[in-house]
Amino acid sequence: MKKSPKTFYTRTYGCQMNELDTEVMSGMLLRRGLRPVEDEESADLLIFNTCSIRDLAERKVMGKLGQLGRQKRPNRIIGVTGCMANAKKDRLLQKMPHVDFVLGTNNLHDLDVVLDELLHTGLKTVHTDETFTQELNYIGANRKDPYRGFVSIIRGCDKYCTYCVVPYTRGPEVSRPMNHILEECRNLVAAGYKEITLLGQNVNSYGNDRPTWNSRFHDLLYELDKIMEGGRIRFLTSHPVDITRELMEAIRDLPSLCEHVHFPLQAGSSRVLRKMHRIYTKEEYLDKVAALRSLVPGVELGTDMIVGFPTETEEEFEETMEAMRLVRYATAFLYTYSPRRGTPAMRWADDVPLEVKEARHKRLLSLHQEISAELMGAMLGSEVEVLVERKNRDGTHLKGLTRCWRNVIFEGPDALIGSLQKVRLHSFSHNTFIGERQTPLRQVS
Ligand code: SAH
Ligand code: SF4
Ligand code: F3S
Repeated sequence: MKKSPKTFYTRTYGCQMNELDTEVMSGMLLRRGLRPVEDEESADLLIFNTCSIRDLAERKVMGKLGQLGRQKRPNRIIGVTGCMANAKKDRLLQKMPHVDFVLGTNNLHDLDVVLDELLHTGLKTVHTDETFTQELNYIGANRKDPYRGFVSIIRGCDKYCTYCVVPYTRGPEVSRPMNHILEECRNLVAAGYKEITLLGQNVNSYGNDRPTWNSRFHDLLYELDKIMEGGRIRFLTSHPVDITRELMEAIRDLPSLCEHVHFPLQAGSSRVLRKMHRIYTKEEYLDKVAALRSLVPGVELGTDMIVGFPTETEEEFEETMEAMRLVRYATAFLYTYSPRRGTPAMRWADDVPLEVKEARHKRLLSLHQEISAELMGAMLGSEVEVLVERKNRDGTHLKGLTRCWRNVIFEGPDALIGSLQKVRLHSFSHNTFIGERQTPLRQVS
Protein backbone atom coordinates (compact mmCIF):
# COMPACT_ATOMS: atom_id res chain seq x y z
CA MET A 1 0.00 0.00 0.00
CA LYS A 2 1.22 3.53 -0.76
CA LYS A 3 1.98 6.03 1.99
CA SER A 4 -0.20 9.10 2.28
CA PRO A 5 1.43 11.83 0.13
CA LYS A 6 2.67 15.03 1.76
CA THR A 7 3.72 16.97 -1.31
CA PHE A 8 2.37 17.32 -4.83
CA TYR A 9 3.45 18.55 -8.22
CA THR A 10 1.18 19.32 -11.17
CA ARG A 11 1.98 19.73 -14.84
CA THR A 12 -0.58 21.10 -17.28
CA TYR A 13 -0.68 20.53 -21.02
CA GLY A 14 -3.19 22.06 -23.46
CA CYS A 15 -5.59 24.94 -23.15
CA GLN A 16 -6.65 27.48 -20.52
CA MET A 17 -9.54 25.25 -19.46
CA ASN A 18 -6.95 22.68 -18.45
CA GLU A 19 -4.97 25.32 -16.57
CA LEU A 20 -8.07 26.22 -14.61
CA ASP A 21 -8.83 22.54 -13.95
CA THR A 22 -5.32 22.12 -12.56
CA GLU A 23 -5.89 25.10 -10.26
CA VAL A 24 -9.10 23.48 -9.02
CA MET A 25 -7.32 20.17 -8.31
CA SER A 26 -4.47 22.00 -6.67
CA GLY A 27 -7.02 23.71 -4.35
CA MET A 28 -8.43 20.29 -3.43
CA LEU A 29 -4.98 18.95 -2.61
CA LEU A 30 -4.14 21.98 -0.47
CA ARG A 31 -7.33 21.38 1.52
CA ARG A 32 -6.20 17.78 2.06
CA GLY A 33 -3.10 19.21 3.71
CA LEU A 34 -0.66 18.52 0.88
CA ARG A 35 2.05 21.02 0.04
CA PRO A 36 2.81 22.04 -3.56
CA VAL A 37 6.43 21.67 -4.72
CA GLU A 38 8.11 23.14 -7.76
CA ASP A 39 10.23 20.16 -8.73
CA GLU A 40 8.77 16.89 -9.72
CA GLU A 41 11.57 14.86 -8.15
CA SER A 42 10.65 15.76 -4.59
CA ALA A 43 6.89 15.27 -4.97
CA ASP A 44 5.00 12.32 -3.44
CA LEU A 45 2.06 12.84 -5.80
CA LEU A 46 2.41 13.81 -9.45
CA ILE A 47 -0.56 14.91 -11.51
CA PHE A 48 -0.35 15.29 -15.27
CA ASN A 49 -3.34 17.20 -16.59
CA THR A 50 -3.19 16.22 -20.21
CA CYS A 51 -4.28 17.31 -23.69
CA SER A 52 -5.21 15.24 -26.75
CA ILE A 53 -5.68 17.96 -29.32
CA ARG A 54 -2.75 16.89 -31.50
CA ASP A 55 -0.52 13.86 -31.58
CA LEU A 56 2.44 15.84 -30.28
CA ALA A 57 0.51 16.83 -27.15
CA GLU A 58 -0.13 13.16 -26.35
CA ARG A 59 3.38 12.03 -27.21
CA LYS A 60 4.88 14.54 -24.79
CA VAL A 61 2.90 13.06 -21.89
CA MET A 62 3.43 9.45 -22.91
CA GLY A 63 7.18 10.12 -23.14
CA LYS A 64 7.17 11.67 -19.68
CA LEU A 65 5.15 8.81 -18.19
CA GLY A 66 7.41 6.22 -19.82
CA GLN A 67 10.44 7.92 -18.30
CA LEU A 68 8.81 7.95 -14.82
CA GLY A 69 8.05 4.22 -15.17
CA ARG A 70 11.72 3.46 -15.51
CA GLN A 71 12.51 5.16 -12.18
CA LYS A 72 11.71 2.83 -9.32
CA ARG A 73 9.86 4.98 -6.80
CA PRO A 74 7.28 2.61 -5.25
CA ASN A 75 5.81 5.22 -2.94
CA ARG A 76 5.24 7.88 -5.53
CA ILE A 77 1.65 8.31 -6.74
CA ILE A 78 1.07 9.21 -10.38
CA GLY A 79 -2.27 10.47 -11.67
CA VAL A 80 -3.21 11.23 -15.26
CA THR A 81 -6.12 13.64 -15.65
CA GLY A 82 -7.68 15.68 -18.43
CA CYS A 83 -8.47 15.07 -22.09
CA MET A 84 -6.02 12.22 -22.71
CA ALA A 85 -7.58 10.37 -19.80
CA ASN A 86 -10.94 10.47 -21.64
CA ALA A 87 -9.34 9.65 -24.97
CA LYS A 88 -7.38 6.62 -23.72
CA LYS A 89 -9.31 5.49 -20.63
CA ASP A 90 -8.03 2.15 -19.25
CA ARG A 91 -5.70 1.68 -22.21
CA LEU A 92 -3.55 4.18 -20.35
CA LEU A 93 -3.16 1.85 -17.37
CA GLN A 94 -2.41 -1.07 -19.65
CA LYS A 95 0.37 0.86 -21.35
CA MET A 96 1.64 2.57 -18.21
CA PRO A 97 1.10 0.16 -15.30
CA HIS A 98 2.92 2.47 -12.88
CA VAL A 99 0.13 5.08 -13.24
CA ASP A 100 -2.13 4.98 -10.16
CA PHE A 101 -5.27 6.72 -11.34
CA VAL A 102 -6.86 8.10 -14.47
CA LEU A 103 -9.40 10.90 -14.04
CA GLY A 104 -11.22 12.38 -17.00
CA THR A 105 -12.24 15.98 -17.53
CA ASN A 106 -15.71 15.31 -16.13
CA ASN A 107 -14.50 13.53 -12.98
CA LEU A 108 -12.07 15.96 -11.41
CA HIS A 109 -14.37 16.32 -8.39
CA ASP A 110 -13.60 12.62 -7.70
CA LEU A 111 -9.97 13.38 -6.93
CA ASP A 112 -10.41 13.11 -3.14
CA VAL A 113 -12.35 9.84 -3.35
CA VAL A 114 -9.88 8.33 -5.79
CA LEU A 115 -6.94 9.22 -3.56
CA ASP A 116 -8.69 7.82 -0.48
CA GLU A 117 -9.49 4.60 -2.32
CA LEU A 118 -5.94 4.25 -3.52
CA LEU A 119 -4.49 4.82 -0.04
CA HIS A 120 -6.94 2.51 1.75
CA THR A 121 -7.34 -0.33 -0.71
CA GLY A 122 -4.46 0.06 -3.15
CA LEU A 123 -7.01 -0.04 -5.97
CA LYS A 124 -6.21 1.79 -9.17
CA THR A 125 -9.14 3.65 -10.69
CA VAL A 126 -10.22 4.96 -14.05
CA HIS A 127 -13.09 7.49 -13.98
CA THR A 128 -13.97 8.95 -17.36
CA ASP A 129 -17.61 10.04 -17.50
CA GLU A 130 -18.89 11.36 -20.79
CA THR A 131 -20.83 14.30 -19.42
CA PHE A 132 -20.00 17.00 -16.92
CA THR A 133 -22.57 16.73 -14.16
CA GLN A 134 -21.01 17.93 -10.94
CA GLU A 135 -19.88 21.52 -10.56
CA LEU A 136 -16.27 21.94 -9.45
CA ASN A 137 -15.15 23.98 -6.48
CA TYR A 138 -13.88 26.87 -8.59
CA ILE A 139 -14.00 29.27 -5.67
CA GLY A 140 -11.51 27.05 -3.84
CA ALA A 141 -9.12 26.97 -6.81
CA ASN A 142 -5.46 27.59 -6.01
CA ARG A 143 -4.86 30.23 -8.65
CA LYS A 144 -1.41 30.80 -10.07
CA ASP A 145 -1.97 34.33 -11.22
CA PRO A 146 -2.96 37.04 -8.74
CA TYR A 147 -4.41 39.53 -11.25
CA ARG A 148 -5.79 37.56 -14.20
CA GLY A 149 -8.26 34.81 -13.45
CA PHE A 150 -9.91 32.15 -15.60
CA VAL A 151 -13.62 31.57 -15.03
CA SER A 152 -15.39 28.61 -16.60
CA ILE A 153 -18.84 29.42 -17.98
CA ILE A 154 -19.56 26.42 -20.19
CA ARG A 155 -17.85 23.06 -20.53
CA GLY A 156 -17.87 20.63 -23.44
CA CYS A 157 -18.59 21.17 -27.11
CA ASP A 158 -21.49 20.29 -29.42
CA LYS A 159 -19.96 21.53 -32.64
CA TYR A 160 -18.24 18.33 -33.80
CA CYS A 161 -15.68 19.78 -36.18
CA THR A 162 -14.51 16.69 -38.04
CA TYR A 163 -10.85 16.99 -36.99
CA CYS A 164 -11.40 17.64 -33.29
CA VAL A 165 -11.33 15.35 -30.24
CA VAL A 166 -12.81 17.86 -27.81
CA PRO A 167 -16.50 16.82 -28.13
CA TYR A 168 -15.35 13.31 -27.17
CA THR A 169 -12.87 14.23 -24.44
CA ARG A 170 -15.06 16.86 -22.77
CA GLY A 171 -18.55 15.75 -23.73
CA PRO A 172 -21.61 17.81 -24.59
CA GLU A 173 -22.04 21.47 -23.70
CA VAL A 174 -23.04 22.15 -20.10
CA SER A 175 -23.56 25.78 -19.05
CA ARG A 176 -22.83 26.95 -15.56
CA PRO A 177 -25.55 28.83 -13.66
CA MET A 178 -25.16 32.58 -14.03
CA ASN A 179 -25.34 33.28 -10.29
CA HIS A 180 -22.39 30.93 -9.67
CA ILE A 181 -20.34 32.69 -12.33
CA LEU A 182 -21.20 36.13 -10.95
CA GLU A 183 -20.39 35.06 -7.40
CA GLU A 184 -16.99 33.76 -8.43
CA CYS A 185 -16.24 36.93 -10.39
CA ARG A 186 -17.28 39.12 -7.45
CA ASN A 187 -14.86 37.18 -5.26
CA LEU A 188 -12.07 37.61 -7.77
CA VAL A 189 -12.65 41.36 -8.07
CA ALA A 190 -12.69 41.66 -4.27
CA ALA A 191 -9.40 39.73 -4.14
CA GLY A 192 -7.76 42.27 -6.46
CA TYR A 193 -8.17 40.53 -9.83
CA LYS A 194 -8.19 43.07 -12.66
CA GLU A 195 -8.96 40.78 -15.56
CA ILE A 196 -11.27 37.83 -16.01
CA THR A 197 -11.13 35.47 -18.95
CA LEU A 198 -14.39 33.61 -19.44
CA LEU A 199 -13.67 30.12 -20.63
CA GLY A 200 -15.51 27.61 -22.74
CA GLN A 201 -14.83 25.60 -25.89
CA ASN A 202 -17.51 27.79 -27.38
CA VAL A 203 -18.53 30.55 -24.98
CA ASN A 204 -21.13 31.86 -27.43
CA SER A 205 -23.20 28.72 -26.88
CA TYR A 206 -23.66 29.78 -23.26
CA GLY A 207 -27.22 29.02 -22.17
CA ASN A 208 -28.23 27.12 -25.33
CA ASP A 209 -28.39 23.86 -23.39
CA ARG A 210 -30.62 25.53 -20.76
CA PRO A 211 -33.36 27.37 -22.67
CA THR A 212 -35.39 27.86 -19.49
CA TRP A 213 -32.68 30.04 -17.97
CA ASN A 214 -33.37 32.54 -20.71
CA SER A 215 -29.83 33.84 -20.49
CA ARG A 216 -27.52 34.01 -23.44
CA PHE A 217 -23.83 34.86 -23.52
CA HIS A 218 -24.38 38.59 -24.04
CA ASP A 219 -26.82 38.67 -21.08
CA LEU A 220 -24.06 37.26 -18.90
CA LEU A 221 -21.65 39.90 -20.19
CA TYR A 222 -24.02 42.76 -19.32
CA GLU A 223 -24.36 41.40 -15.76
CA LEU A 224 -20.63 40.91 -15.40
CA ASP A 225 -19.77 44.36 -16.63
CA LYS A 226 -21.65 45.80 -13.63
CA ILE A 227 -19.31 44.13 -11.16
CA MET A 228 -15.96 44.65 -12.87
CA GLU A 229 -15.11 47.97 -11.12
CA GLY A 230 -12.83 49.18 -13.89
CA GLY A 231 -11.31 45.75 -14.52
CA ARG A 232 -11.56 43.94 -17.82
CA ILE A 233 -13.20 40.88 -19.34
CA ARG A 234 -12.09 38.60 -22.16
CA PHE A 235 -13.52 35.39 -23.46
CA LEU A 236 -12.15 32.27 -25.14
CA THR A 237 -13.11 30.70 -27.47
CA SER A 238 -15.95 31.70 -29.73
CA HIS A 239 -17.26 29.83 -32.74
CA PRO A 240 -17.80 32.28 -35.62
CA VAL A 241 -21.28 30.91 -36.29
CA ASP A 242 -22.43 31.97 -32.85
CA ILE A 243 -20.98 35.49 -32.88
CA THR A 244 -24.28 37.35 -32.80
CA ARG A 245 -25.12 40.98 -33.41
CA GLU A 246 -26.00 41.25 -29.70
CA LEU A 247 -22.52 40.05 -28.80
CA MET A 248 -20.92 42.54 -31.17
CA GLU A 249 -22.97 45.31 -29.57
CA ALA A 250 -21.88 44.17 -26.13
CA ILE A 251 -18.23 44.47 -27.22
CA ARG A 252 -19.00 47.98 -28.48
CA ASP A 253 -20.96 49.09 -25.42
CA LEU A 254 -19.47 47.45 -22.35
CA PRO A 255 -16.42 49.29 -21.00
CA SER A 256 -14.96 46.19 -19.36
CA LEU A 257 -15.05 44.02 -22.47
CA CYS A 258 -11.71 43.94 -24.32
CA GLU A 259 -11.74 44.85 -28.00
CA HIS A 260 -9.97 41.67 -29.01
CA VAL A 261 -12.02 38.77 -30.30
CA HIS A 262 -10.73 35.30 -30.96
CA PHE A 263 -12.54 34.51 -34.19
CA PRO A 264 -11.07 31.17 -35.35
CA LEU A 265 -11.35 30.71 -39.10
CA GLN A 266 -9.49 27.34 -39.37
CA ALA A 267 -9.26 27.42 -43.19
CA GLY A 268 -9.80 29.90 -46.01
CA SER A 269 -11.55 27.61 -48.50
CA SER A 270 -15.29 27.05 -48.22
CA ARG A 271 -14.89 23.49 -49.49
CA VAL A 272 -12.38 22.69 -46.75
CA LEU A 273 -14.54 24.44 -44.17
CA ARG A 274 -17.48 22.25 -45.21
CA LYS A 275 -15.34 19.14 -44.88
CA MET A 276 -14.24 20.39 -41.46
CA HIS A 277 -17.92 20.82 -40.53
CA ARG A 278 -17.32 24.42 -39.52
CA ILE A 279 -20.87 25.31 -40.68
CA TYR A 280 -19.92 28.65 -42.27
CA THR A 281 -18.49 29.59 -45.63
CA LYS A 282 -15.55 31.91 -46.16
CA GLU A 283 -18.01 34.60 -47.33
CA GLU A 284 -20.23 34.27 -44.27
CA TYR A 285 -17.18 34.49 -42.05
CA LEU A 286 -15.86 37.59 -43.80
CA ASP A 287 -19.30 39.21 -43.56
CA LYS A 288 -19.24 38.71 -39.80
CA VAL A 289 -15.76 40.18 -39.58
CA ALA A 290 -16.94 43.21 -41.56
CA ALA A 291 -20.01 43.61 -39.34
CA LEU A 292 -17.89 43.42 -36.18
CA ARG A 293 -15.36 45.91 -37.53
CA SER A 294 -18.02 48.41 -38.51
CA LEU A 295 -19.70 48.18 -35.11
CA VAL A 296 -16.48 48.20 -33.08
CA PRO A 297 -13.86 50.33 -34.83
CA GLY A 298 -10.35 49.31 -33.86
CA VAL A 299 -11.35 45.83 -32.72
CA GLU A 300 -8.53 43.33 -33.13
CA LEU A 301 -9.04 39.74 -34.14
CA GLY A 302 -7.35 36.46 -33.38
CA THR A 303 -7.58 33.14 -35.17
CA ASP A 304 -6.68 29.48 -35.16
CA MET A 305 -5.84 27.89 -38.50
CA ILE A 306 -5.11 24.35 -39.57
CA VAL A 307 -3.04 23.63 -42.67
CA GLY A 308 -2.83 20.30 -44.47
CA PHE A 309 -6.35 19.10 -43.67
CA PRO A 310 -7.13 15.96 -45.76
CA THR A 311 -7.53 16.80 -49.47
CA GLU A 312 -6.45 20.46 -49.03
CA THR A 313 -4.98 21.55 -52.37
CA GLU A 314 -2.31 24.19 -52.94
CA GLU A 315 -5.00 26.57 -54.27
CA GLU A 316 -7.13 26.02 -51.19
CA PHE A 317 -4.15 26.71 -48.98
CA GLU A 318 -3.67 29.95 -50.94
CA GLU A 319 -7.20 30.89 -49.88
CA THR A 320 -6.07 30.55 -46.25
CA MET A 321 -3.12 32.85 -47.03
CA GLU A 322 -5.53 35.26 -48.68
CA ALA A 323 -7.82 35.27 -45.64
CA MET A 324 -4.81 36.06 -43.46
CA ARG A 325 -3.99 39.02 -45.73
CA LEU A 326 -7.58 40.22 -45.75
CA VAL A 327 -8.39 39.97 -42.07
CA ARG A 328 -4.93 40.90 -40.76
CA TYR A 329 -5.21 39.05 -37.46
CA ALA A 330 -3.42 40.47 -34.44
CA THR A 331 -2.97 36.97 -32.99
CA ALA A 332 -2.84 33.67 -34.84
CA PHE A 333 -2.33 30.11 -33.62
CA LEU A 334 -1.33 28.03 -36.61
CA TYR A 335 -1.28 24.25 -36.69
CA THR A 336 -0.54 21.41 -39.05
CA TYR A 337 -3.36 18.89 -39.20
CA SER A 338 -2.95 15.91 -36.89
CA PRO A 339 -5.34 12.94 -37.31
CA ARG A 340 -7.13 12.03 -34.08
CA ARG A 341 -8.56 8.66 -33.20
CA GLY A 342 -12.36 8.62 -33.02
CA THR A 343 -12.91 11.76 -35.11
CA PRO A 344 -14.75 11.70 -38.47
CA ALA A 345 -11.68 13.04 -40.29
CA MET A 346 -9.85 9.81 -39.38
CA ARG A 347 -11.94 8.16 -42.11
CA TRP A 348 -10.07 10.18 -44.71
CA ALA A 349 -6.48 9.56 -45.71
CA ASP A 350 -4.06 12.03 -44.14
CA ASP A 351 -2.97 12.72 -47.69
CA VAL A 352 -1.05 16.00 -47.47
CA PRO A 353 2.58 14.92 -47.05
CA LEU A 354 4.30 16.10 -43.87
CA GLU A 355 6.83 18.24 -45.75
CA VAL A 356 4.00 19.98 -47.61
CA LYS A 357 2.12 20.60 -44.36
CA GLU A 358 5.26 22.01 -42.79
CA ALA A 359 6.04 24.20 -45.78
CA ARG A 360 2.47 25.62 -45.72
CA HIS A 361 2.72 26.18 -41.99
CA LYS A 362 5.98 28.06 -42.42
CA ARG A 363 4.60 30.29 -45.17
CA LEU A 364 1.46 31.11 -43.18
CA LEU A 365 3.51 31.82 -40.07
CA SER A 366 5.89 34.17 -41.84
CA LEU A 367 2.97 35.97 -43.49
CA HIS A 368 1.41 36.43 -40.07
CA GLN A 369 4.67 37.71 -38.61
CA GLU A 370 4.90 40.26 -41.39
CA ILE A 371 1.32 41.42 -40.79
CA SER A 372 1.80 41.47 -37.06
CA ALA A 373 4.88 43.68 -37.38
CA GLU A 374 2.92 46.07 -39.63
CA LEU A 375 0.05 46.20 -37.15
CA MET A 376 2.47 46.84 -34.32
CA GLY A 377 4.23 49.56 -36.30
CA ALA A 378 0.90 51.28 -36.85
CA MET A 379 0.29 51.36 -33.11
CA LEU A 380 3.44 53.33 -32.29
CA GLY A 381 2.67 56.65 -30.67
CA SER A 382 -0.69 55.49 -29.37
CA GLU A 383 -1.72 55.15 -25.76
CA VAL A 384 -2.81 51.76 -24.45
CA GLU A 385 -4.09 50.34 -21.19
CA VAL A 386 -1.67 47.85 -19.64
CA LEU A 387 -2.41 45.45 -16.82
CA VAL A 388 0.95 45.41 -15.06
CA GLU A 389 1.73 41.85 -14.03
CA ARG A 390 5.39 41.53 -13.20
CA LYS A 391 8.91 42.71 -13.86
CA ASN A 392 10.43 41.58 -17.12
CA ARG A 393 13.06 38.85 -17.10
CA ASP A 394 15.99 41.26 -16.74
CA GLY A 395 14.26 43.09 -13.91
CA THR A 396 14.69 46.43 -15.71
CA HIS A 397 11.08 47.10 -16.71
CA LEU A 398 7.52 46.35 -15.69
CA LYS A 399 5.62 44.03 -17.98
CA GLY A 400 1.97 43.53 -18.84
CA LEU A 401 -0.70 43.01 -21.47
CA THR A 402 -2.85 45.50 -23.36
CA ARG A 403 -6.59 45.05 -23.88
CA CYS A 404 -5.72 43.67 -27.33
CA TRP A 405 -3.36 41.05 -26.02
CA ARG A 406 -0.07 42.81 -26.74
CA ASN A 407 2.96 42.58 -24.48
CA VAL A 408 4.28 45.91 -23.23
CA ILE A 409 7.26 46.78 -21.08
CA PHE A 410 7.88 50.18 -19.51
CA GLU A 411 9.79 51.71 -16.60
CA GLY A 412 8.04 52.26 -13.29
CA PRO A 413 7.97 51.39 -9.60
CA ASP A 414 7.12 47.85 -8.43
CA ALA A 415 4.10 49.28 -6.62
CA LEU A 416 2.34 49.47 -10.00
CA ILE A 417 2.26 45.68 -10.29
CA GLY A 418 -1.38 44.58 -10.24
CA SER A 419 -2.74 47.89 -11.54
CA LEU A 420 -3.98 49.19 -14.89
CA GLN A 421 -1.76 51.88 -16.38
CA LYS A 422 -1.86 54.11 -19.41
CA VAL A 423 1.28 53.67 -21.49
CA ARG A 424 2.40 55.41 -24.68
CA LEU A 425 4.10 53.02 -27.11
CA HIS A 426 7.35 54.22 -28.65
CA SER A 427 9.01 51.14 -30.14
CA PHE A 428 8.84 47.38 -30.31
CA SER A 429 11.09 44.41 -30.58
CA HIS A 430 9.73 41.01 -31.70
CA ASN A 431 6.33 40.75 -30.05
CA THR A 432 6.89 43.21 -27.24
CA PHE A 433 6.23 46.93 -27.21
CA ILE A 434 8.38 49.34 -25.23
CA GLY A 435 6.50 52.31 -23.86
CA GLU A 436 6.36 55.12 -21.36
CA ARG A 437 3.87 55.48 -18.57
CA GLN A 438 1.38 58.34 -18.87
CA THR A 439 -0.74 59.86 -16.10
CA PRO A 440 -2.09 57.03 -13.98
CA LEU A 441 -5.33 55.59 -15.31
CA ARG A 442 -6.57 54.31 -12.01
CA GLN A 443 -5.25 54.38 -8.49
CA VAL A 444 -2.89 51.58 -7.45
CA SER A 445 -4.89 49.51 -5.01
N1 SAH B 1 -12.93 25.39 -29.14
C1 SAH B 1 -11.94 26.16 -29.72
C2 SAH B 1 -10.55 25.58 -29.75
C3 SAH B 1 -10.32 24.15 -29.66
S1 SAH B 1 -8.77 23.47 -29.85
C4 SAH B 1 -12.41 26.57 -31.06
O1 SAH B 1 -13.18 25.92 -31.69
O2 SAH B 1 -11.95 27.60 -31.50
C5 SAH B 1 -7.71 24.73 -30.39
C6 SAH B 1 -7.33 24.65 -31.82
O3 SAH B 1 -6.60 23.47 -32.10
C7 SAH B 1 -8.48 24.60 -32.80
O4 SAH B 1 -9.06 25.83 -33.01
C8 SAH B 1 -7.81 24.06 -34.04
O5 SAH B 1 -7.24 25.10 -34.80
C9 SAH B 1 -6.69 23.21 -33.47
N2 SAH B 1 -6.95 21.77 -33.66
C10 SAH B 1 -7.97 21.05 -33.17
N3 SAH B 1 -7.89 19.78 -33.60
C11 SAH B 1 -6.78 19.71 -34.38
C12 SAH B 1 -6.18 18.65 -35.13
N4 SAH B 1 -6.70 17.44 -35.16
N5 SAH B 1 -5.05 18.93 -35.80
C13 SAH B 1 -4.51 20.17 -35.80
N6 SAH B 1 -5.04 21.19 -35.11
C14 SAH B 1 -6.18 20.97 -34.43
FE1 SF4 C 1 -13.21 21.40 -31.46
FE2 SF4 C 1 -14.77 22.58 -33.19
FE3 SF4 C 1 -15.59 22.24 -30.70
FE4 SF4 C 1 -13.66 23.97 -31.21
S1 SF4 C 1 -15.77 24.11 -31.93
S2 SF4 C 1 -13.68 22.47 -29.58
S3 SF4 C 1 -12.56 23.01 -32.87
S4 SF4 C 1 -15.21 20.64 -32.16
FE1 F3S D 1 -6.37 19.92 -25.19
FE2 F3S D 1 -8.56 19.17 -24.07
FE3 F3S D 1 -7.96 21.70 -24.10
S1 F3S D 1 -7.72 18.31 -25.89
S2 F3S D 1 -6.81 21.89 -25.99
S3 F3S D 1 -6.83 20.16 -23.06
S4 F3S D 1 -9.98 20.83 -24.28
